[in-house]
Amino acid sequence: MVGIDKINFYTPNTYIDLVTLAEARGIDPDKFIIGIGQSKMSVPPISQDTVTMGANAAFPILEKADLELIDLIVVGTESGIDESKSVGTFIHDLLGVQPFAKAVEIKQACYGATAGLMMAVDYVRLHPDRKALVIGSDISRYGLATSGEVTQGAGAIAMVISSNPRILEIEGETVALTQNIFDFWRPNYSDTAIVDGKFSNEAYISSFHTLWEEFMRRTELKLSDFDAFCFHMPYTKMGKKALLPILENEDKDLANQLIFNYDLGTHYTRHIGNIYTGSLYLSLMSLLNNPDHKLTAKSRIGFFSYGSGAVAEIFSGVLVPGFEKHLLKKEQEEHLESRISLSIDEYEALFNETIPKDDGIHTINRSKTDNSLFYLKEINEHKRIYGK
Ligand code: HMG
Repeated sequence: MVGIDKINFYTPNTYIDLVTLAEARGIDPDKFIIGIGQSKMSVPPISQDTVTMGANAAFPILEKADLELIDLIVVGTESGIDESKSVGTFIHDLLGVQPFAKAVEIKQACYGATAGLMMAVDYVRLHPDRKALVIGSDISRYGLATSGEVTQGAGAIAMVISSNPRILEIEGETVALTQNIFDFWRPNYSDTAIVDGKFSNEAYISSFHTLWEEFMRRTELKLSDFDAFCFHMPYTKMGKKALLPILENEDKDLANQLIFNYDLGTHYTRHIGNIYTGSLYLSLMSLLNNPDHKLTAKSRIGFFSYGSGAVAEIFSGVLVPGFEKHLLKKEQEEHLESRISLSIDEYEALFNETIPKDDGIHTINRSKTDNSLFYLKEINEHKRIYGK
């Protein structure tokens, strides 16, 4: 049995309230709060990037024994900091993982962390005494005053994958789907994404339905074998648009239970925004940390991972006895509660800040609000130097 042994998330501790954003853009706040289903959006300072966010998510769940047993670090990201050197190499160093490990970065939009999870699960199945660290870390940027702006966000998730996991066993049968489409993409020369919003919604929904049919056909599982579903969540309404049609002709109690659990999984995304690769796993933490769910050991959760461009996958996991004792609910909720609200001017200033691009030595101006453990300290002749 292989799966998620530990899991955590990190998000920068500054955010913009979406009522403030709506008013600044001359938009009815109900569009953002109800129509899109988002309330707050994390905004990263210049001292937080894909590396620091990933390390900040992973550090609290790693003990000395993990650092010695981790053979593989996979970072899913689409907002990495170098075209050549992987985010994984920096994180390997910051966390102090044993030297004979491999550290890589995987890119396929928001699907990257799931590709990492599948690679990690396969690795541990072959090497049951060893562990893998999977990280999804991203900053989502569409641009100021664009239609995608309200669906930005920033954050990272980290998961330790091991044998005899203490949270969730990943089941064997998964189904993936690849389509070469332009629903959302970001050319190398652009620091904001290009998106065909309506088409991206349609592609997400149709990918889910195609995969769900194929998943049921291959596994012989049916809807009633599931207790909850977690979705990649670019904004909280998105997954529900995909889920509702498959509930239409089902037992009402089952449908209500799945909708109820879906809603429990939306809470963290509503207050953080789209964290791209980590989003699906943020939804899992939001669901499991909520005291209102009735999930127990052996409850089966379905997962829908979607990364524009597009690769999607459905897989399933089963909760293991005592899973609730291994969640970091208190720490995670304190982290969310202690964040600082930005004015619109402060948000726009952070959004427009860029790192120096010349070959000088530059200290990064770390704002007083960034009290995270790992931070970007210096750019030294194009090299990123991190502080702890
Ligand atoms: P938009 O054109 O600003 O919004 O784009 P809209 O006009 O479609 O309205 C959105 C909803 O608000 C609608 O509800 C309106 O009725 C409602 P719906 O029909 O969807 O149920 N509404 C109101 N409700 C209450 N009061 C009001 C009001 N006004 C309108 N006054 C869009 C929205 C999400 C498309 C845009 O923000 C966008 O392009 N976002 C980025 C793309 C995206 O998130 N796509 C999701 C699927 S693709 C994906 O998940 C992959 C991704 O994560 C990237 C990756 O893989 O790396 C994005």
